Amino acid sequence: MTKLRVAILVSGRGSNMAALIDAALDPDYPVEIVAVVSNRPGAGALAIASQAGVATAVVDHRSFPNREAFDSELDRTIRSFEPDVVCLAGFMRLLTAGFIESWAGRLINVHPALLPSFKGLDTHARALAAGVKLHGCTVHLVTLDVDSGPIIAQAAVPVLTDDDEATLAARVLKAEHELFPRALALWATGRARLDGDRVLIKDENAPGEALVWP
Ligand code: GAR
Repeated sequence: MTKLRVAILVSGRGSNMAALIDAALDPDYPVEIVAVVSNRPGAGALAIASQAGVATAVVDHRSFPNREAFDSELDRTIRSFEPDVVCLAGFMRLLTAGFIESWAGRLINVHPALLPSFKGLDTHARALAAGVKLHGCTVHLVTLDVDSGPIIAQAAVPVLTDDDEATLAARVLKAEHELFPRALALWATGRARLDGDRVLIKDENAPGEALVWP
């Protein structure tokens, strides 16, 4: 099996990255994780990746005068690992249009909400404030509009009466760890593919393959 070569961009603790690395330990998983790149030198993700034997690199955004210069070096660093696809796993920098366009169709993000609801930050607090009964996470292709690209897969979790931001975030994060490896496998095997502005899931077990329920 030719595996999809995937680089992961991180900024923090890296639990989603760890879920992808774990999934890729299975010889039947269609993805090889070729590198983890962080914009923060102190990101916990870096130690986890090194421990797992995955190549790491740091491109510290504070060393660059503007977003274009940072993204240019980020791009050069990523390309040195020759990935087919780049996954954003808790990567907390906005990317420039030039970067996104050069990786169009090959840039995948996990977002902690059921898009198109709750784009942006503080998704769990806003879900609680809105009183939604169902919350969750989304794996999607990255396009120029933030958190708006074609959806590959989604996981739903209940919002419970006594939830606070921390309990809800923990429930969603657990779902992310299940969803992201599953969505990436769908993409890597071609069972999920772009059709215009939407991702279609090949009909075998669809739509179940792209959904995770409470
Ligand atoms: C995850 O919940 C991810 O969905 C979110 O950051 C967290 C990273 O956790 N990403 C975003 O909010 C992107 N805008 P992790 O470092 O443990 O994977």
